[in-house]
Amino acid sequence: VESTPDTVRSALRGVIDPELGDNIVDLGMVRDVQITNGLVSIEIALTIAGCPLRAQLRSDVERHVLALPDVTEVKVKVGSMSADERSTLMNRARWKAREKAGPNQVPADTRVIAVASGKGGVGKSTVTANLSSALALLGFTVGVLDADIAGFSLPRLLGVTERLQAEKAHIVPAEIPMGTGLLKVVSMGLIEGSNEEEAIMLRGLMLNRALQHFLEDVRWGDIDYLVIDLPPGTSDVQMGLARMLPQSNLLVVTTPALAAQHVAARAVDMARRSHLRVAGIVENMSAFTNESGEIVALFGEGGGKRLAESTETPLLAMLPFHPEVGRMGDAGTPIVSAAPDNSASLAYSALAELISREVVPPVEMSGCSSRLLDAVKAALGPHDSDANTSG
Ligand SMILES: Nc1ncnc2c1ncn2[C@@H]1O[C@H](COP(=O)(O)OP(=O)(O)OP(=O)(O)O)[C@@H](O)[C@H]1O
Ligand SMILES: [Mg+2]
Repeated sequence: VESTPDTVRSALRGVIDPELGDNIVDLGMVRDVQITNGLVSIEIALTIAGCPLRAQLRSDVERHVLALPDVTEVKVKVGSMSADERSTLMNRARWKAREKAGPNQVPADTRVIAVASGKGGVGKSTVTANLSSALALLGFTVGVLDADIAGFSLPRLLGVTERLQAEKAHIVPAEIPMGTGLLKVVSMGLIEGSNEEEAIMLRGLMLNRALQHFLEDVRWGDIDYLVIDLPPGTSDVQMGLARMLPQSNLLVVTTPALAAQHVAARAVDMARRSHLRVAGIVENMSAFTNESGEIVALFGEGGGKRLAESTETPLLAMLPFHPEVGRMGDAGTPIVSAAPDNSASLAYSALAELISREVVPPVEMSGCSSRLLDAVKAALGPHDSDANTSG
């Protein structure tokens, strides 16, 4: 099939302005599309000229268009919106925010990070628990969603024992204060039944639509980040996420073994085909330095780098293997908070800093459309915005 301006525009519907939570085509940010012999020239208009998300949007545009079969080159010209264009965008964003306030309780200005992997047992849940904690230690309020419905493990890793409460037909997350920040945890393992049998039945009923339930029925309140622990592999859950939270940023966890990288590459590929942004690769169980100063590569070497290269995705961290990581996890105290000087803790903290500074910065710091977003919230009035903030 030959690409036309229309097919290019439809590919660009996969590019989401993370702050407005809507695609750049429907937001009116795509001004012009021209195609000559495989070269696609696109003009996009940002809400504000010096938008710090500029680089991200530009590369997202390039990536989505280059994925079209007969496109060989993409040129993106970035401009800024006129007052008229901005006011059209405001209307659209306002409508969208209203629509969102219904089924989806995740605030529009929350940055979403989903932790995925090609195969099981590579450390997704451990990364989720420690990354969330490290972000909280930086002062953020972090929602933690255990989307591994059947294989939930976050209650244990984060030491949550209280069951979730329901309040006015909403689920209230379990709260764990951490440093100056806060974790708000939701997991299937925290869903109460009057006895274990009933709990198992309830979980069974929820299994299919669990992610949707969690996104619709959980009252997250104001959270800076939502970190989601996905089940291993390329499941319906990942597809559901692409549909329900298209602003998600995927972290793909892999081990240093070279052999398993094609499985991990599949997770990246699947994400891209469902238009999810792959924020980067995290290598876990990497080489560590033992007491006598030797570097030990228990699980091989180079896997993260190879995956990063083959998928053209940044390698964000190499988290060393350390027996304490597992021990602290079993004790319900994530190592970043329990032993911050441990080599693995330092690596988790560095990852959280890199994410909050560059890779997925919080909305108020990236300050691009966030002022518009505030205006949208104000325009929605106390009744509508209540749905996102109270409780
Ligand atoms: N950096 C690390 N150092 C030492 N042990 C680790 C490290 N990361 C994870 N582990 C251990 O590896 C095991 C698997 O980790 P985890 O449960 O987080 O993986 P997962 O990818 O979530 O698995 P699943 O696919 O079953 O959900 C756990 O016992 C955990 O304690
Ligand atoms: Mg897990």
